[in-house]
Amino acid sequence: MPNSTSSNHPNVNNKNGKVQGLSHRDSLTVRDNRTGQEYELPIVDGTVKATDLRQIKTGDSDFGIMTYDPAFMNTASCRSAVTYLDGENGVLEYRGYPIEQLAEHSSFLEVSFLLIHGRLPSQSELAAWIHDITHHTFVHENTKDFMKGFRYDAHPMGMLASSVAALSTFYPEAARIDDPDVRMAQVVRMIAKMPTLAAFAYRHNQGQPYVYPDNELSYAGNFLGMMFKMSELKYQPDPRIERALDVLFILHADHEQNCSTSAVRAVGSSQVDPYSATAAGVAALYGPLHGGANEAVLRMLRRIERAENVPAFIEGVKSGKERLMGFGHRVYKNYDPRARIIKGACDDVFAVTGVSPLLRIAQELEKTALEDEYFVSRKLYPNVDFYSGLIYEALGLPAAMFPVLFAIGRAPGWMAQWLEMIQDGEQKIARPRQIYTGARGLQYPGA
Ligand code: CMC
Repeated sequence: MPNSTSSNHPNVNNKNGKVQGLSHRDSLTVRDNRTGQEYELPIVDGTVKATDLRQIKTGDSDFGIMTYDPAFMNTASCRSAVTYLDGENGVLEYRGYPIEQLAEHSSFLEVSFLLIHGRLPSQSELAAWIHDITHHTFVHENTKDFMKGFRYDAHPMGMLASSVAALSTFYPEAARIDDPDVRMAQVVRMIAKMPTLAAFAYRHNQGQPYVYPDNELSYAGNFLGMMFKMSELKYQPDPRIERALDVLFILHADHEQNCSTSAVRAVGSSQVDPYSATAAGVAALYGPLHGGANEAVLRMLRRIERAENVPAFIEGVKSGKERLMGFGHRVYKNYDPRARIIKGACDDVFAVTGVSPLLRIAQELEKTALEDEYFVSRKLYPNVDFYSGLIYEALGLPAAMFPVLFAIGRAPGWMAQWLEMIQDGEQKIARPRQIYTGARGLQYPGA
């Protein structure tokens, strides 16, 4: 048992309060009441290192204190310079640029460059980047064969996760993650091929022939073409729909350490190739708590049926019978800045497709909730999913495709975070600890 007046550890206080080693205000003093020992832990960037707690022991055989944080509610797992998020004030920035400015002035491929390279491209760099992505949109012909093996009604997210994983078998060099050129080639392929795989999955569900990419179309326009082209010689997307889709991709491009991004980082930390790591991200996004909430919003709006029914529905929410889907967020305690932009995109899309009757219900819901004490006091505001489902539905997409569109948008974010993780000297293979709660030392019958 360490005694409370002396220790060899540099960060341990002696009894008269004098700290050996550290003695500054950027530190946290911890007193272990089991031993009476005090420890001073450095505070760096508002955090203490969980491993610094390991020195706090009751004796030599003690492992030392661990932190317990299921769901990582209060644990920073990395340093990242990709996305800044201030949930209290509704701020979202990619590489320092506000999401509002990027959605208004940039394009999805330019934002992808920004996320990957950490800065905006010059004109010639952007042209080269667009050329590169556009000329990697084709997938190996065998892809069609294994896609055909799925049942006619296979969920497109299941098909996407599998086909992204399968890319690693077509590009075995992707395993050479230490080579910067090889890494960048896979980043380009990932962003380029994601819409092709997504559209193939959609066409498979429709029982329609797969459509090859059209290199003359924009990123979003080509994706629309691969989904909706029929017998016409040349598919021409409506520019308003094309732009709205591009903006939606921008809004989904990154959101710091969310569930799917953390999955990509954790799996990638084993040094597997980026396709396998990204397949884990797609799988995480498949879950209804992550990529599927906008579908729940549509179901809710249909159930409400008419704007006149909104007050009764809101009363049901307040009494705990219902949940207002598309409202509230773990991080945002203010209007989700993405929701505000999507609301604007709705007008552009509905100008082409005709207004969805569900829009009025959504607007009435939002207005009623934002004036109601229940939602105001809990800081519940519309999130990114409140209006996005309405747009996707107006485009003629089935609900199962909603998370697939999310995955296309998120691909550059996953790649930027993966690149950052691979090159971060502080990162090791992700390997959490546990608190063991099971039996010990049982005797096997007859042993
Ligand atoms: N409707 C009604 N009450 C709500 C809602 C809601 N949508 N969201 C939170 N609350 C209440 C909740 O009942 C609790 O009240 P009380 O303090 O009286 O118990 C309080 O607000 C705090 O909520 P919480 O459940 O502790 O908050 P959380 O951070 O655990 O949950 C959430 C966040 C997004 C899961 C939740 O707000 C929710 O279920 N929203 C609806 C589903 C949804 O829209 N999800 C999409 C999230 S955005 C997608 C993304 O960015 O990936």
